[in-house]
Amino acid sequence: MRRDEMLNALELTAWRLRGAEKNPPPPIKIASGTGSLERGLGGDAVSVSPSPPTPLQQGEGEASPDTRAQRIAQLSWDDFASDVASCTACGLCKTRTKSVPGVGDVRARWLFVGEGPGAEEDKKGEPFVGQAGLLLDQMLAALGMKRGDDVYIANVLKCRPPNNRAPVPQEADACRPYLERQIALIQPKIIVALGKSAAMLLLNTEASIASLRGRVHGYREASLVVTYHPAYLLRSPADKAKSWEDLVFSKRHLESLG
Ligand code: URA
Repeated sequence: MRRDEMLNALELTAWRLRGAEKNPPPPIKIASGTGSLERGLGGDAVSVSPSPPTPLQQGEGEASPDTRAQRIAQLSWDDFASDVASCTACGLCKTRTKSVPGVGDVRARWLFVGEGPGAEEDKKGEPFVGQAGLLLDQMLAALGMKRGDDVYIANVLKCRPPNNRAPVPQEADACRPYLERQIALIQPKIIVALGKSAAMLLLNTEASIASLRGRVHGYREASLVVTYHPAYLLRSPADKAKSWEDLVFSKRHLESLG
């Protein structure tokens, strides 16, 4: 697909793209935070946000949540997917068809984090392979990127919540060590939180996506940018241009890191 075709697929006009590149959303300062670095587009530190660990739900057969988290924190890539596949730390193991650990370049600079597998992902064991995934792939392609090439894609939850409902806190907490291990193994330069569940987990905030976009947050050593979830964009196409701005902003930020 040609670039203009991709942008058409995203329903983004060329002037919007040029506008986004010339006028990225300005960095906005926020008042709260105690943990990780936030930066403006030029790399200036502007404030910090917390991401303290929350209690883990105890998995069946694990001595304690801490023991489980410590074990997961030592997993190699060779053992990662099979560990996820045998996880019984929350009730979603009972209804999953396949677990969905994540996909992509394990040395990627970009990590995209969604919410949780849907029906297609549950069947295939790969994240973002349904309609929302198609949109994500189109957005990546419009940026000159593709999954698997300097891009890794993961979810907050590795197993499908019934009826695609949002994760409940116990599920997100139980799955957190897996995402943390993925981040530690990949060491991405930039994490893009796709939607509220990812933003909540990674930034430990209840703030809206609208209030979190347009600035660079931090997660450990990585920069973190928040944008809308592709499934939301399918329901609210008017916000596609904002997400596109966020991705252009992220790319420019990554380039500014050198
Ligand atoms: N939505 C998500 O958040 N993740 C997927 O993998 C698919 C849809």
